[in-house]
Amino acid sequence: MIGIGSDHGGFGLKQQIVAHLEANNIAVKDFGCYDESSVDYPEYARLVANAIVSGECEKGIVICGTGIGISIAANKVKGIRCALCHDCFSARATREHNDANMLALGARVIGSGLALQIVDEFLSTEFSNDKRHMHRISLIES
Ligand code: RB5
Repeated sequence: MIGIGSDHGGFGLKQQIVAHLEANNIAVKDFGCYDESSVDYPEYARLVANAIVSGECEKGIVICGTGIGISIAANKVKGIRCALCHDCFSARATREHNDANMLALGARVIGSGLALQIVDEFLSTEFSNDKRHMHRISLIES
């Protein structure tokens, strides 16, 4: 299960990502927001991050206007490694090297076509299981 959440700035892109995942038979749980009314992005970062830490969701996607605020907020939750990616190379690398469990996107920064490719790259890339990367992740966690 993939958890997804956004503020009002990311709402439109979130809807497109949900439709894209469902069209590809990927189960997704939408934690809101549910329209373009102004909301506070830390609340949605926390909902998705908690779902990952609890095991309800395997990975998460969070979206705000820039992707910055919502990624900062998600990374405050212990156990979360949320990567803000606006290119496919970074999306692949953060899975291989950082075992990132959340992806952040800025809906006001990139178009939806690139955003969907980044989502696909992020969700289809496995962690390398390389010892040096495992060691570095353990340093982050400690
Ligand atoms: C909301 O206007 C905007 O500040 C938010 O979506 C995000 O860009 C914050 O980092």
